[in-house]
Amino acid sequence: MEVTPGIRRDPVPDLDAVGQDEGLVARIHEAIARDGPITFARFMDLALYDPDGGYYRSGTARPGRDGDFLTAPEAHPIFGVALARAEADAWDRLGRPDPFVLREYGAGTGTLALAVLDGLAAEHPDLAAHLRYDPIEVEPRRLEAIAARLDDAGHSGVLVAAGTSSAPITGFVIANEVLDALPVHRVVVREGVLREVLVGSSYDAFVDVEADPTTPALAIRLAEESIDLVEGQRGEICLTLGPWLTVATAGLERGVLLLIDYGYPAAELYDPVRRRDGTLRAYLRHRVHDDPYVHVGRQDLTAHVDVTAVEAASRAAGLDHLGTTTQAELLVGLGTEDLLRAIQADPATTLEGYLAVRSALMRLLDPGAMGRFRVMAFARGWPNGPSLAGLGYRLSR
Ligand SMILES: C[S@@+](CC[C@H](N)C(=O)[O-])C[C@H]1O[C@@H](n2cnc3c(N)ncnc32)[C@H](O)[C@@H]1O
Repeated sequence: MEVTPGIRRDPVPDLDAVGQDEGLVARIHEAIARDGPITFARFMDLALYDPDGGYYRSGTARPGRDGDFLTAPEAHPIFGVALARAEADAWDRLGRPDPFVLREYGAGTGTLALAVLDGLAAEHPDLAAHLRYDPIEVEPRRLEAIAARLDDAGHSGVLVAAGTSSAPITGFVIANEVLDALPVHRVVVREGVLREVLVGSSYDAFVDVEADPTTPALAIRLAEESIDLVEGQRGEICLTLGPWLTVATAGLERGVLLLIDYGYPAAELYDPVRRRDGTLRAYLRHRVHDDPYVHVGRQDLTAHVDVTAVEAASRAAGLDHLGTTTQAELLVGLGTEDLLRAIQADPATTLEGYLAVRSALMRLLDPGAMGRFRVMAFARGWPNGPSLAGLGYRLSR
């Protein structure tokens, strides 16, 4: 997720006019008045996913140039076309099963799926004929919009039958920028003691309230990762990672799980110098800031993903680790440079079209922008031999 440089130079949007979801805010204040301060994870869950007012439950999808942030699939279809190559490789390596299901968590606007389908149609029509797409979203209206979009693009037969989303599959499970939107607990160290940062209510505003941890799982996670936060250091801990991974991979009988997100191994994520204040961020109209208590229900909230915890949870879910790399390395490994050259050589490409794809690709690869995203690949039933296509290019570890 990124704020777009072009949009940043546009006139500053009137953020006050964005407001907040008053009904949701009132209900959170009432809950705090009734039960006392709530965990930040509960607050984030309500702010993002409350069916009546949560950010991701609104009628409008939020990524994109008209929304609050830009994700890699929304930056340019070349991202999805490149990933289609990894999917085709997985299909081959798994013996060309029919059907081969692409199950996408956090399918959003369906932009990634469209690019993948177009990429397969162009480069791997044999897989395109066997592929079934299974989008998973928290907001049902998003699924209806995806179905309509695929229909319009001529991919109507590709969706799996409604209601079969938990069915066992052989295929490719993908989640792009979903884990960083899972609710997190917040912690801080005071006088050498781990404290939890809860959310309280004061004069109609939400405020931090430091208290004893509400669950021992927070200290256990840090201990498992050998992390000692220093005095005054703040951090976020996502306890739903494990349960999310268990659910997301329960139906994966054979195939690949690919997770792409802002994230770091625990030692870097909790670095006492570089990330002393944690990584919680709010995104609104292509601006990024660190106040989660304003624009509640109208702004996105994210925290960087703990790659160490994801790898541990995936092992616990019985998956093999194919590798962890960066988005830049994966995209170069999947041949985005060839794709760019082919677009340039195509007589149908306009100069504007070529410049747009070239500048999007630079952002997707730039280690200072989206290129540093972590790509974590896992599999069940992966055959002996080479890893997934794209992972071999200067694998981080
Ligand atoms: C930052 S957006 C990314 C959307 C899309 N993957 C992209 O890259 O443009 C995060 C998406 O994940 C969805 N999401 C969050 N938790 C989810 C879950 N448990 N299952 C399915 N979708 C989820 C949200 O509704 C939202 O659409």
